[in-house]
Amino acid sequence: AAQKPLKVMISGAPASGKGTQCKMIVEKYGLVHISTGDLLRAEVSSGTDIGKKAKEYMENGLLVPDEIVTAMVMSRLSRQDAKEGGWLLDGYPRSFSQAQSLEKVQIRPDIYIVLDVPDEVLIDRCVGRRMDPMTGKIYHLKSLPPETEEINARLITRQDDTPEKVKSRLVSYKQNAEAISSTYLDVMNKIDGNRPREVVFNEIESLLLQVRNDKSVIFQGK
Ligand code: AP5
Repeated sequence: AAQKPLKVMISGAPASGKGTQCKMIVEKYGLVHISTGDLLRAEVSSGTDIGKKAKEYMENGLLVPDEIVTAMVMSRLSRQDAKEGGWLLDGYPRSFSQAQSLEKVQIRPDIYIVLDVPDEVLIDRCVGRRMDPMTGKIYHLKSLPPETEEINARLITRQDDTPEKVKSRLVSYKQNAEAISSTYLDVMNKIDGNRPREVVFNEIESLLLQVRNDKSVIFQGK
C-alpha cells in the first residue's frame, strides 16, 4: 500500500511552547506547519476581511468564531504541500465543535501531543515572550534573549500577552481541553512541557519516530 504522510496535532495552554516546538520539528522533519494563531495574526496585519473580524477577539484573548477559523484551516489543509508532505496542526482544534468539524471530513491525526505546563510558569512565559518579525523566531527576555542588538531592536510583543489576557486565554483553554482530548484519546500523548526546549523536543522526536514505525507513515529526516 502507498505510504501516507505524517499528521500531527499539537496542543497545550497558551505559552506551553507549541510554536517553539513546531519550529524545531519543521526544521528537522519538514512537515507543513499550520498555526491558526499565526494565520490569524497575518490576516490582522494585512487588514483582510477575516483579519477585521478576528482582531477584537484576539486582542481580548477570546476565541475567534468557529466558522472563520474552520474555513481557514480546511482550505490550508487541502493544499497540495500539506496533503503530500504531511502536516503539523498547532492551535486547532480549540473547541469540541472544531474537533467535530475535522471528524466530519475524516481528518484525524496520527498523534495528538499535549504540552503540559503549570499555570504560574505560563504567565511568566507570556509576559517575557518576544517575536522576531523577520524570522518568526520566538524569544524570551530571560530564558532565550535575542543574539544581537540588531535583533533586539526589532522584536515585537503580542497584544494579548498581558497578565490579564493570558488569564482569560487560560480559562478558555481549560474549558475546552477535556472535550477536545476526548476526541483523540486513542492517539493522545501528554508530555511535560516544563523542561528545557531541547529536552521537550527530544521526547517529541522519539514519539514521532515511534509513530513512523508503528503506522508506517512517511516523513523526511533521520
Ligand atoms: P495562538 O497564537 O495559538 O496562541 P496560544 O495558544 O495562546 O499559544 P501561544 O502562541 O501563546 O503559545 P505557544 O504555546 O506557541 O508558546 P511559544 O512557543 O510561543 O492563538 C492566539 C489567538 O488566536 C487566540 O487567543 C484566539 O483569539 C485566536 N485563535 C487561534 N486559534 C484559534 C482557533 N482554533 N479558534 C478560535 N480562535 C483561535 O512559547 C511561549 C514563550 O515561552 C516564549 O517566550 C518561549 O521562548 C518560551 N518557551 C517555550 N518553550 C520553553 C521551554 N521549554 N522552557 C522555557 N521557556 C520556553
